[in-house]
Amino acid sequence: MSGISHKQQEHSIILEFQQKNMLFYEDISFEKAESFFIEEYADIQQLLSPKNLINFQSITDKGHRDITKITKDSNFLFKGNNLLVLHTILPIFKESIKLIYIDPPYNTGNTFTYKDKFSRSLWLLFMKNRVEVAREFLQDDGILVIQCDENEQAYLKVLLDEIYGEENFLGMITVLTNPSGRDYRSLARTHEYLIFYSKTPNTELNPLILDKEFKLEDTLGGFELRSLRNGNVRFHQGNRPNLYYPFYINPKNQDIHGHHIVSLTKKKGWIEIYPRESQGVNTVWRWGKTKVLDNITDNTLSSNLIARPSKDNYLIFEKYRKKTRLARTIWDNKDFYTSKGTKHIKELFQESVFDYPKPELLIARIIDITTKPGDRVIDFFLGSGTTASVAHKSGRLWIGIEQMDYIETVTIPRLQKVIAGENGGASRHYQWTKGGEFIYSQLEKNETQEFPFYKELQKNNIINQLRG
Ligand SMILES: C[S@@+](CC[C@H](N)C(=O)[O-])C[C@H]1O[C@@H](n2cnc3c(N)ncnc32)[C@H](O)[C@@H]1O
Repeated sequence: MSGISHKQQEHSIILEFQQKNMLFYEDISFEKAESFFIEEYADIQQLLSPKNLINFQSITDKGHRDITKITKDSNFLFKGNNLLVLHTILPIFKESIKLIYIDPPYNTGNTFTYKDKFSRSLWLLFMKNRVEVAREFLQDDGILVIQCDENEQAYLKVLLDEIYGEENFLGMITVLTNPSGRDYRSLARTHEYLIFYSKTPNTELNPLILDKEFKLEDTLGGFELRSLRNGNVRFHQGNRPNLYYPFYINPKNQDIHGHHIVSLTKKKGWIEIYPRESQGVNTVWRWGKTKVLDNITDNTLSSNLIARPSKDNYLIFEKYRKKTRLARTIWDNKDFYTSKGTKHIKELFQESVFDYPKPELLIARIIDITTKPGDRVIDFFLGSGTTASVAHKSGRLWIGIEQMDYIETVTIPRLQKVIAGENGGASRHYQWTKGGEFIYSQLEKNETQEFPFYKELQKNNIINQLRG
Protein backbone atom coordinates (compact mmCIF):
# COMPACT_ATOMS: atom_id res chain seq x y z
CA MET A 1 0.00 0.00 0.00
CA SER A 2 2.60 2.52 -1.00
CA GLY A 3 1.71 6.16 -0.54
CA ILE A 4 -0.53 5.48 2.47
CA SER A 5 0.96 6.31 5.84
CA HIS A 6 0.94 3.98 8.82
CA LYS A 7 -1.55 6.25 10.55
CA GLN A 8 -3.97 6.01 7.66
CA GLN A 9 -3.73 2.23 7.55
CA GLU A 10 -5.01 2.05 11.13
CA HIS A 11 -8.23 3.73 10.07
CA SER A 12 -10.92 1.92 8.17
CA ILE A 13 -11.87 5.24 6.58
CA ILE A 14 -9.34 7.38 4.77
CA LEU A 15 -9.82 11.05 4.08
CA GLU A 16 -8.31 11.78 0.71
CA PHE A 17 -8.15 15.15 -0.97
CA GLN A 18 -6.11 16.93 -3.60
CA GLN A 19 -2.55 17.87 -2.71
CA LYS A 20 -3.01 16.29 0.72
CA ASN A 21 0.68 15.59 1.14
CA MET A 22 1.81 18.99 0.04
CA LEU A 23 2.19 22.17 1.96
CA PHE A 24 -0.08 25.07 1.18
CA TYR A 25 1.52 28.39 1.86
CA GLU A 26 -0.84 31.31 1.99
CA ASP A 27 0.18 34.73 3.09
CA ILE A 28 -2.13 37.67 2.81
CA SER A 29 -0.29 39.86 5.27
CA PHE A 30 2.28 41.01 2.74
CA GLU A 31 1.47 43.90 0.46
CA LYS A 32 0.48 41.40 -2.21
CA ALA A 33 -1.41 38.27 -1.26
CA GLU A 34 0.46 35.15 -2.28
CA SER A 35 -0.19 31.48 -2.09
CA PHE A 36 1.43 28.40 -3.51
CA PHE A 37 1.77 24.65 -3.02
CA ILE A 38 5.05 23.06 -2.15
CA GLU A 39 5.57 19.41 -2.90
CA GLU A 40 9.30 18.75 -2.55
CA TYR A 41 10.33 17.67 0.93
CA ALA A 42 13.47 19.81 0.87
CA ASP A 43 11.48 22.90 -0.08
CA ILE A 44 8.96 22.26 2.67
CA GLN A 45 11.79 21.88 5.17
CA GLN A 46 13.27 25.12 4.00
CA LEU A 47 10.02 27.05 4.26
CA LEU A 48 9.32 25.68 7.72
CA SER A 49 12.79 26.15 9.14
CA PRO A 50 12.80 28.75 11.95
CA LYS A 51 12.59 32.34 10.67
CA ASN A 52 13.65 35.63 12.11
CA LEU A 53 11.48 37.25 14.72
CA ILE A 54 12.32 40.93 15.05
CA ASN A 55 11.50 44.13 16.98
CA PHE A 56 10.89 42.51 20.35
CA GLN A 57 9.06 44.96 22.58
CA SER A 58 7.44 44.81 25.95
CA ILE A 59 3.94 46.32 25.99
CA THR A 60 1.90 47.60 28.93
CA ASP A 61 -0.96 50.09 29.15
CA LYS A 62 1.70 52.82 29.36
CA GLY A 63 3.16 52.02 25.95
CA HIS A 64 5.96 50.08 24.23
CA ARG A 65 9.51 49.78 25.46
CA ASP A 66 12.54 47.81 24.36
CA ILE A 67 12.63 44.48 25.90
CA THR A 68 14.62 43.89 29.05
CA LYS A 69 13.62 40.40 29.99
CA ILE A 70 11.74 37.38 28.76
CA THR A 71 10.78 34.89 31.43
CA LYS A 72 8.99 31.58 31.26
CA ASP A 73 5.91 33.46 32.51
CA SER A 74 5.87 36.03 29.70
CA ASN A 75 2.90 36.41 27.37
CA PHE A 76 3.60 36.67 23.64
CA LEU A 77 1.95 38.29 20.66
CA PHE A 78 3.43 37.56 17.23
CA LYS A 79 2.62 39.22 13.95
CA GLY A 80 3.00 37.02 10.89
CA ASN A 81 1.83 34.00 9.00
CA ASN A 82 0.85 31.48 11.64
CA LEU A 83 2.41 28.50 9.84
CA LEU A 84 5.83 30.16 9.86
CA VAL A 85 5.50 31.58 13.37
CA LEU A 86 4.39 28.21 14.76
CA HIS A 87 7.37 26.44 13.22
CA THR A 88 9.67 29.19 14.45
CA ILE A 89 8.54 29.07 18.09
CA LEU A 90 8.02 25.30 18.29
CA PRO A 91 11.47 24.58 19.76
CA ILE A 92 10.68 26.97 22.67
CA PHE A 93 7.09 25.97 23.43
CA LYS A 94 7.05 22.28 22.44
CA GLU A 95 4.78 20.27 24.77
CA SER A 96 4.10 23.25 27.03
CA ILE A 97 0.59 24.31 25.98
CA LYS A 98 -2.53 23.23 27.87
CA LEU A 99 -5.12 24.71 25.51
CA ILE A 100 -5.10 25.53 21.82
CA TYR A 101 -8.24 27.46 20.92
CA ILE A 102 -8.68 28.55 17.31
CA ASP A 103 -11.39 30.31 15.40
CA PRO A 104 -10.08 29.95 11.84
CA PRO A 105 -11.76 31.31 8.71
CA TYR A 106 -14.91 29.13 8.42
CA ASN A 107 -14.69 28.98 4.62
CA THR A 108 -17.97 30.82 4.33
CA GLY A 109 -17.18 32.17 0.89
CA ASN A 110 -17.43 35.71 2.26
CA THR A 111 -14.66 38.22 2.09
CA PHE A 112 -13.79 39.79 5.40
CA THR A 113 -10.63 41.81 5.72
CA TYR A 114 -8.97 38.41 5.63
CA LYS A 115 -9.60 35.64 3.13
CA ASP A 116 -12.42 33.20 3.83
CA LYS A 117 -12.91 31.55 0.47
CA PHE A 118 -11.01 28.39 -0.35
CA SER A 119 -11.93 25.27 -2.24
CA ARG A 120 -12.76 22.55 0.27
CA SER A 121 -9.53 20.62 -0.37
CA LEU A 122 -7.47 23.78 -0.06
CA TRP A 123 -9.15 24.69 3.22
CA LEU A 124 -8.51 21.18 4.53
CA LEU A 125 -4.87 21.37 3.48
CA PHE A 126 -4.55 24.82 5.08
CA MET A 127 -5.97 23.41 8.33
CA LYS A 128 -4.02 20.14 8.16
CA ASN A 129 -0.68 21.95 7.84
CA ARG A 130 -1.50 24.00 10.93
CA VAL A 131 -3.20 21.53 13.27
CA GLU A 132 -0.43 18.99 12.65
CA VAL A 133 2.28 21.29 13.97
CA ALA A 134 -0.08 22.63 16.66
CA ARG A 135 -0.34 19.14 18.17
CA GLU A 136 3.38 19.23 18.95
CA PHE A 137 2.79 22.24 21.22
CA LEU A 138 0.38 20.35 23.49
CA GLN A 139 1.45 18.89 26.79
CA ASP A 140 0.27 15.32 27.37
CA ASP A 141 -2.99 16.48 28.98
CA GLY A 142 -3.37 19.30 26.44
CA ILE A 143 -6.60 20.04 24.60
CA LEU A 144 -7.43 21.42 21.16
CA VAL A 145 -10.67 23.34 20.64
CA ILE A 146 -11.69 24.50 17.16
CA GLN A 147 -14.69 26.69 16.53
CA CYS A 148 -16.38 26.36 13.13
CA ASP A 149 -19.77 26.29 11.50
CA GLU A 150 -21.42 23.70 9.29
CA ASN A 151 -19.49 24.77 6.16
CA GLU A 152 -16.55 22.57 7.14
CA GLN A 153 -17.45 20.86 10.44
CA ALA A 154 -17.96 17.37 9.01
CA TYR A 155 -14.74 17.36 6.96
CA LEU A 156 -12.74 18.96 9.76
CA LYS A 157 -13.94 16.30 12.22
CA VAL A 158 -12.66 13.52 9.95
CA LEU A 159 -9.35 15.35 9.43
CA LEU A 160 -8.94 15.74 13.19
CA ASP A 161 -9.81 12.08 13.79
CA GLU A 162 -6.90 11.26 11.51
CA ILE A 163 -4.39 13.67 13.07
CA TYR A 164 -5.43 13.61 16.76
CA GLY A 165 -6.98 10.12 16.85
CA GLU A 166 -10.64 9.13 17.15
CA GLU A 167 -9.95 7.94 20.68
CA ASN A 168 -9.01 11.50 21.64
CA PHE A 169 -12.24 13.09 20.46
CA LEU A 170 -13.74 14.56 23.65
CA GLY A 171 -16.95 15.79 22.10
CA MET A 172 -18.59 18.58 20.16
CA ILE A 173 -20.58 21.45 21.56
CA THR A 174 -23.33 23.26 19.72
CA VAL A 175 -23.36 26.92 20.69
CA LEU A 176 -26.39 29.06 20.03
CA THR A 177 -24.72 32.12 18.51
CA ASN A 178 -27.47 33.89 16.58
CA PRO A 179 -30.87 32.87 17.99
CA SER A 180 -32.95 34.85 15.53
CA GLY A 181 -31.23 33.31 12.49
CA ARG A 182 -31.45 34.77 9.02
CA ASP A 183 -34.05 33.78 6.41
CA TYR A 184 -31.62 32.56 3.82
CA ARG A 185 -31.63 29.40 1.70
CA SER A 186 -33.46 26.43 3.24
CA LEU A 187 -32.82 26.64 6.96
CA ALA A 188 -31.98 29.64 9.14
CA ARG A 189 -28.70 28.87 10.89
CA THR A 190 -28.54 29.82 14.54
CA HIS A 191 -25.53 27.91 15.86
CA GLU A 192 -21.83 27.13 15.57
CA TYR A 193 -19.69 24.23 16.80
CA LEU A 194 -16.81 23.73 19.19
CA ILE A 195 -14.85 20.54 18.49
CA PHE A 196 -12.76 19.23 21.41
CA TYR A 197 -9.80 16.84 21.11
CA SER A 198 -7.21 15.82 23.69
CA LYS A 199 -3.64 14.91 22.88
CA THR A 200 -3.79 11.64 24.81
CA PRO A 201 -6.68 9.42 25.96
CA ASN A 202 -8.18 9.76 29.45
CA THR A 203 -7.78 13.53 29.54
CA GLU A 204 -10.66 15.00 31.52
CA LEU A 205 -12.30 18.38 31.35
CA ASN A 206 -12.94 20.43 34.49
CA PRO A 207 -16.55 20.44 35.67
CA LEU A 208 -18.37 23.75 35.86
CA ILE A 209 -18.87 25.31 39.25
CA LEU A 210 -22.56 25.95 39.68
CA ASP A 211 -23.79 29.13 41.20
CA LYS A 212 -26.42 27.58 43.47
CA GLU A 213 -27.55 27.48 47.08
CA PHE A 214 -28.66 24.15 48.53
CA LYS A 215 -32.02 24.30 50.31
CA LEU A 216 -31.30 21.26 52.51
CA GLU A 217 -28.45 20.89 54.99
CA ASP A 218 -27.20 18.23 57.41
CA THR A 219 -24.10 17.83 59.58
CA LEU A 220 -21.93 17.38 56.42
CA GLY A 221 -23.21 20.51 54.64
CA GLY A 222 -25.69 21.38 51.89
CA PHE A 223 -27.25 18.87 49.50
CA GLU A 224 -30.05 18.17 47.08
CA LEU A 225 -31.89 14.87 46.67
CA ARG A 226 -31.39 12.65 43.63
CA SER A 227 -33.32 9.43 43.20
CA LEU A 228 -31.18 6.33 43.62
CA ARG A 229 -33.36 4.45 41.16
CA ASN A 230 -32.07 4.29 37.59
CA GLY A 231 -35.01 5.50 35.51
CA ASN A 232 -33.58 4.06 32.29
CA VAL A 233 -35.58 0.87 31.57
CA ARG A 234 -32.77 -0.48 29.39
CA PHE A 235 -31.13 -1.44 32.69
CA HIS A 236 -33.21 -3.93 34.64
CA GLN A 237 -33.15 -6.94 36.93
CA GLY A 238 -32.54 -9.21 33.91
CA ASN A 239 -29.27 -7.58 32.75
CA ARG A 240 -28.14 -5.90 36.03
CA PRO A 241 -29.08 -8.44 38.74
CA ASN A 242 -26.44 -7.05 41.15
CA LEU A 243 -28.26 -3.68 41.15
CA TYR A 244 -31.61 -5.19 42.08
CA TYR A 245 -31.79 -5.70 45.85
CA PRO A 246 -33.96 -4.44 48.74
CA PHE A 247 -33.42 -1.58 51.19
CA TYR A 248 -35.01 -1.64 54.63
CA ILE A 249 -36.67 1.50 56.01
CA ASN A 250 -37.49 2.36 59.58
CA PRO A 251 -40.90 4.07 59.23
CA LYS A 252 -40.84 5.27 62.85
CA ASN A 253 -37.56 7.19 62.67
CA GLN A 254 -37.82 10.56 60.93
CA ASP A 255 -35.46 13.57 61.07
CA ILE A 256 -36.21 17.31 60.80
CA HIS A 257 -36.43 17.02 57.00
CA GLY A 258 -38.84 14.06 57.16
CA HIS A 259 -36.04 11.65 56.07
CA HIS A 260 -35.91 8.02 57.22
CA ILE A 261 -32.94 5.79 57.99
CA VAL A 262 -32.16 3.10 55.40
CA SER A 263 -30.26 -0.16 55.80
CA LEU A 264 -29.32 -3.22 53.76
CA THR A 265 -30.08 -5.45 56.77
CA LYS A 266 -33.55 -6.67 57.56
CA LYS A 267 -34.75 -5.53 61.03
CA LYS A 268 -37.96 -6.05 62.97
CA GLY A 269 -40.68 -3.57 62.02
CA TRP A 270 -38.70 -2.18 59.06
CA ILE A 271 -40.24 -2.08 55.58
CA GLU A 272 -38.64 -3.67 52.49
CA ILE A 273 -38.20 -1.43 49.39
CA TYR A 274 -37.16 -2.54 45.88
CA PRO A 275 -36.68 -0.26 42.86
CA ARG A 276 -40.13 -0.07 41.34
CA GLU A 277 -41.41 -1.63 38.17
CA SER A 278 -41.68 0.50 35.04
CA GLN A 279 -42.82 -0.41 31.52
CA GLY A 280 -43.06 -4.07 32.44
CA VAL A 281 -39.51 -4.44 33.86
CA ASN A 282 -38.06 -4.32 37.35
CA THR A 283 -35.81 -1.26 37.27
CA VAL A 284 -32.54 -1.17 39.28
CA TRP A 285 -30.58 1.10 41.65
CA ARG A 286 -27.68 3.24 40.38
CA TRP A 287 -25.31 2.00 43.06
CA GLY A 288 -24.11 -1.49 43.97
CA LYS A 289 -24.18 -2.74 47.58
CA THR A 290 -20.51 -1.91 48.32
CA LYS A 291 -20.98 1.76 47.47
CA VAL A 292 -24.21 1.84 49.47
CA LEU A 293 -22.46 0.45 52.56
CA ASP A 294 -19.78 3.16 52.26
CA ASN A 295 -22.48 5.82 52.24
CA ILE A 296 -24.96 4.94 55.00
CA THR A 297 -24.75 5.68 58.72
CA ASP A 298 -27.23 5.13 61.56
CA ASN A 299 -28.06 8.82 61.62
CA THR A 300 -29.98 10.42 58.74
CA LEU A 301 -28.18 13.71 59.42
CA SER A 302 -24.83 12.22 58.41
CA SER A 303 -25.98 9.48 56.01
CA ASN A 304 -25.66 9.99 52.27
CA LEU A 305 -28.70 7.83 51.55
CA ILE A 306 -32.16 8.32 53.02
CA ALA A 307 -35.77 7.41 52.30
CA ARG A 308 -38.78 9.65 51.91
CA PRO A 309 -42.45 8.69 51.96
CA SER A 310 -44.28 8.92 48.65
CA LYS A 311 -47.96 8.13 48.25
CA ASP A 312 -48.29 4.57 49.56
CA ASN A 313 -44.57 3.73 49.51
CA TYR A 314 -41.05 5.05 50.19
CA LEU A 315 -38.41 6.29 47.71
CA ILE A 316 -34.64 6.09 48.20
CA PHE A 317 -32.55 9.20 47.59
CA GLU A 318 -28.88 10.07 47.37
CA LYS A 319 -27.82 13.32 49.01
CA TYR A 320 -25.99 14.98 46.13
CA ARG A 321 -23.48 17.40 47.61
CA LYS A 322 -21.44 18.56 44.61
CA LYS A 323 -21.78 22.12 43.37
CA THR A 324 -20.22 21.17 40.06
CA ARG A 325 -21.37 19.42 36.96
CA LEU A 326 -19.90 18.54 33.59
CA ALA A 327 -20.48 20.99 30.77
CA ARG A 328 -23.44 19.98 28.59
CA THR A 329 -23.15 19.65 24.80
CA ILE A 330 -25.61 22.41 23.93
CA TRP A 331 -24.72 25.90 25.13
CA ASP A 332 -27.74 28.16 25.06
CA ASN A 333 -26.62 31.23 26.93
CA LYS A 334 -27.23 34.87 25.98
CA ASP A 335 -23.65 35.71 26.97
CA PHE A 336 -22.42 33.48 24.13
CA TYR A 337 -24.33 35.21 21.33
CA THR A 338 -22.09 36.69 18.63
CA SER A 339 -23.72 40.07 19.24
CA LYS A 340 -22.09 40.18 22.71
CA GLY A 341 -18.60 40.13 21.19
CA THR A 342 -19.53 42.89 18.74
CA LYS A 343 -21.02 45.01 21.54
CA HIS A 344 -17.94 44.61 23.72
CA ILE A 345 -15.56 45.73 20.95
CA LYS A 346 -17.81 48.70 20.22
CA GLU A 347 -17.71 49.69 23.89
CA LEU A 348 -13.90 49.44 23.87
CA PHE A 349 -13.32 51.39 20.62
CA GLN A 350 -16.56 53.42 20.26
CA GLU A 351 -16.96 51.81 16.81
CA SER A 352 -17.04 48.33 15.25
CA VAL A 353 -13.39 47.90 14.42
CA PHE A 354 -13.57 44.11 13.89
CA ASP A 355 -16.13 41.78 12.28
CA TYR A 356 -17.45 39.01 14.51
CA PRO A 357 -15.06 38.94 17.48
CA LYS A 358 -15.96 36.09 19.80
CA PRO A 359 -17.81 36.95 23.03
CA GLU A 360 -15.37 36.87 25.93
CA LEU A 361 -17.66 34.84 28.18
CA LEU A 362 -17.78 32.07 25.58
CA ILE A 363 -13.99 31.86 25.56
CA ALA A 364 -14.04 32.06 29.38
CA ARG A 365 -16.28 28.98 29.52
CA ILE A 366 -13.83 27.09 27.28
CA ILE A 367 -10.82 28.23 29.32
CA ASP A 368 -12.58 27.29 32.58
CA ILE A 369 -13.29 23.70 31.53
CA THR A 370 -9.89 23.04 29.92
CA THR A 371 -7.28 24.85 32.05
CA LYS A 372 -6.35 26.16 35.47
CA PRO A 373 -4.57 29.41 36.40
CA GLY A 374 -0.93 29.37 35.33
CA ASP A 375 -1.55 27.10 32.31
CA ARG A 376 -0.58 28.39 28.88
CA VAL A 377 -3.10 28.99 26.10
CA ILE A 378 -2.36 29.62 22.41
CA ASP A 379 -4.57 31.07 19.67
CA PHE A 380 -2.89 31.35 16.29
CA PHE A 381 -5.93 32.91 14.54
CA LEU A 382 -6.07 35.65 17.14
CA GLY A 383 -8.05 38.32 15.26
CA SER A 384 -9.04 41.12 17.63
CA GLY A 385 -7.42 39.31 20.58
CA THR A 386 -10.38 37.79 22.45
CA THR A 387 -8.53 34.65 23.58
CA ALA A 388 -5.52 36.66 24.79
CA SER A 389 -7.79 39.09 26.63
CA VAL A 390 -9.66 36.30 28.46
CA ALA A 391 -6.47 34.33 29.17
CA HIS A 392 -4.92 37.49 30.65
CA LYS A 393 -7.94 38.26 32.84
CA SER A 394 -8.14 34.65 34.05
CA GLY A 395 -4.50 34.34 35.09
CA ARG A 396 -3.52 32.02 32.25
CA LEU A 397 -0.33 32.60 30.24
CA TRP A 398 -0.93 33.17 26.55
CA ILE A 399 0.50 33.27 23.04
CA GLY A 400 -1.37 34.94 20.19
CA ILE A 401 -0.54 35.01 16.47
CA GLU A 402 -2.20 37.25 13.88
CA GLN A 403 -1.09 38.15 10.38
CA MET A 404 -3.00 41.33 9.62
CA ASP A 405 -1.94 44.92 10.21
CA TYR A 406 -4.94 45.47 12.49
CA ILE A 407 -2.91 43.63 15.11
CA GLU A 408 -1.45 47.09 15.77
CA THR A 409 -4.65 49.14 15.61
CA VAL A 410 -7.08 46.70 17.25
CA THR A 411 -5.44 43.73 18.96
CA ILE A 412 -2.63 45.55 20.78
CA PRO A 413 -4.78 48.52 21.91
CA ARG A 414 -7.44 46.06 23.13
CA LEU A 415 -4.89 44.16 25.21
CA GLN A 416 -3.52 47.46 26.56
CA LYS A 417 -7.05 48.30 27.70
CA VAL A 418 -7.16 44.93 29.48
CA ILE A 419 -3.90 45.73 31.26
CA ALA A 420 -5.34 49.13 32.22
CA GLY A 421 -8.32 47.34 33.79
CA GLU A 422 -11.22 47.49 31.32
CA ASN A 423 -14.30 46.05 32.98
CA GLY A 424 -16.34 44.55 30.10
CA GLY A 425 -16.45 41.00 28.69
CA ALA A 426 -15.08 38.42 31.13
CA SER A 427 -13.72 40.99 33.64
CA ARG A 428 -16.44 40.47 36.23
CA HIS A 429 -16.38 36.68 35.81
CA TYR A 430 -12.69 36.65 36.83
CA GLN A 431 -12.87 39.68 39.15
CA TRP A 432 -10.24 41.20 36.92
CA THR A 433 -8.60 44.38 38.18
CA LYS A 434 -5.58 45.32 36.06
CA GLY A 435 -1.89 44.69 35.41
CA GLY A 436 0.59 42.58 33.51
CA GLU A 437 2.37 43.00 30.21
CA PHE A 438 3.13 41.08 27.04
CA ILE A 439 5.92 40.76 24.53
CA TYR A 440 5.28 41.73 20.91
CA SER A 441 7.42 40.68 17.98
CA GLN A 442 7.08 40.35 14.22
CA LEU A 443 8.11 37.78 11.71
CA GLU A 444 10.62 39.35 9.35
CA LYS A 445 8.79 40.27 6.16
CA ASN A 446 9.27 38.80 2.71
CA GLU A 447 11.77 36.26 3.89
CA THR A 448 10.20 33.57 1.74
CA GLN A 449 11.10 35.56 -1.36
CA GLU A 450 14.73 34.78 -0.69
CA PHE A 451 14.16 31.08 -1.15
CA PRO A 452 15.37 29.44 -4.39
CA PHE A 453 12.10 27.55 -4.84
CA TYR A 454 10.18 30.81 -4.58
CA LYS A 455 12.31 32.37 -7.32
CA GLU A 456 11.76 29.30 -9.43
CA LEU A 457 7.99 29.59 -8.95
CA GLN A 458 8.14 33.25 -9.85
CA LYS A 459 10.28 32.64 -12.90
CA ASN A 460 7.77 30.17 -14.25
CA ASN A 461 4.92 32.50 -13.43
CA ILE A 462 3.45 29.72 -11.31
CA ILE A 463 2.43 32.00 -8.50
CA ASN A 464 0.28 34.06 -10.80
CA GLN A 465 -1.24 30.94 -12.32
CA LEU A 466 -2.10 29.69 -8.85
CA ARG A 467 -3.68 32.99 -7.97
CA GLY A 468 -5.85 32.41 -11.00
C1 LIG B 1 -12.34 34.39 12.49
S1 LIG B 1 -11.00 35.46 12.78
C2 LIG B 1 -10.67 35.22 14.50
C3 LIG B 1 -11.43 36.15 15.39
C4 LIG B 1 -11.06 36.03 16.84
N1 LIG B 1 -11.47 34.77 17.41
C5 LIG B 1 -11.62 37.18 17.64
O1 LIG B 1 -12.41 36.94 18.59
O2 LIG B 1 -11.31 38.31 17.35
C6 LIG B 1 -9.66 34.66 11.98
C7 LIG B 1 -8.37 35.43 12.05
O3 LIG B 1 -7.33 34.59 11.61
C8 LIG B 1 -6.41 35.35 10.86
N2 LIG B 1 -5.66 34.48 9.94
C9 LIG B 1 -6.14 33.80 8.87
N3 LIG B 1 -5.15 33.11 8.25
C10 LIG B 1 -4.01 33.37 8.96
C11 LIG B 1 -2.66 32.97 8.80
N4 LIG B 1 -2.28 32.15 7.82
N5 LIG B 1 -1.75 33.43 9.69
C12 LIG B 1 -2.12 34.26 10.71
N6 LIG B 1 -3.40 34.68 10.90
C13 LIG B 1 -4.34 34.24 10.04
C14 LIG B 1 -7.28 36.34 10.12
O4 LIG B 1 -6.50 37.46 9.70
C15 LIG B 1 -8.34 36.67 11.17
O5 LIG B 1 -7.97 37.80 11.94
